[in-house]
Amino acid sequence: MRITNEQNDIASVLVSEEEIRARVAEIGAALTEEYQDKMPLVVCVLKGASFFYTDLCRAMKCHLFMDFIAVSSYGAEARSSGVVRIIKDLDTSITGRHVIIVEDIIDSGLTLKHLTELLSSRKPLSIKTVSLLDKQARHDPELAADVTGFNIPDEFVVGYGLDYASFYRNLPYIGVLKREAYEN
Ligand code: IMP
Ligand code: MG
Repeated sequence: MRITNEQNDIASVLVSEEEIRARVAEIGAALTEEYQDKMPLVVCVLKGASFFYTDLCRAMKCHLFMDFIAVSSYGAEARSSGVVRIIKDLDTSITGRHVIIVEDIIDSGLTLKHLTELLSSRKPLSIKTVSLLDKQARHDPELAADVTGFNIPDEFVVGYGLDYASFYRNLPYIGVLKREAYEN
């Protein structure tokens, strides 16, 4: 394995720490307003959404419950198959509850679509989807999340939870990877 300072592999910063902080505060305030008396179950889609999720939960100033789900949509291929396989299910029942699904990024949109369908079948009172990032050019507009943090161009990004081959999740910003970082 190559020993490297991961910052050196970033071509450019697409969304800075400050921009993330400001947008998370905004979304948190809107959700606080909307869910004030609803005690929502806020669901983190592991692992990519982890930093966004914890920051967003802290920005919500109302009672909420936290739970975590891990899904795999890619199998062995690089492209999304659209089939969601649950690797770790929620610990709690969502029937009759208000659910907020927190995702990292919408690319083809198929992961979130299938996850939403799956959780809908468990008869929650409501489901809202929130995604930090959205590559709008890559999917039908109706596959966008209900709430989007940032629309971004069709580039492979890492950081603030998003990975390439499990690396770069701990970068504090969203960055575009240099070509040589994934061609090695
Ligand atoms: P979709 O089903 O094509 O929308 O895939 C969404 C998932 O693909 C995300 O939850 C990410 O795990 C992964 N993904 C898509 N684009 C990127 C990217 O630019 N960087 C890192 N992960 C990505
Ligand atoms: Mg993901």
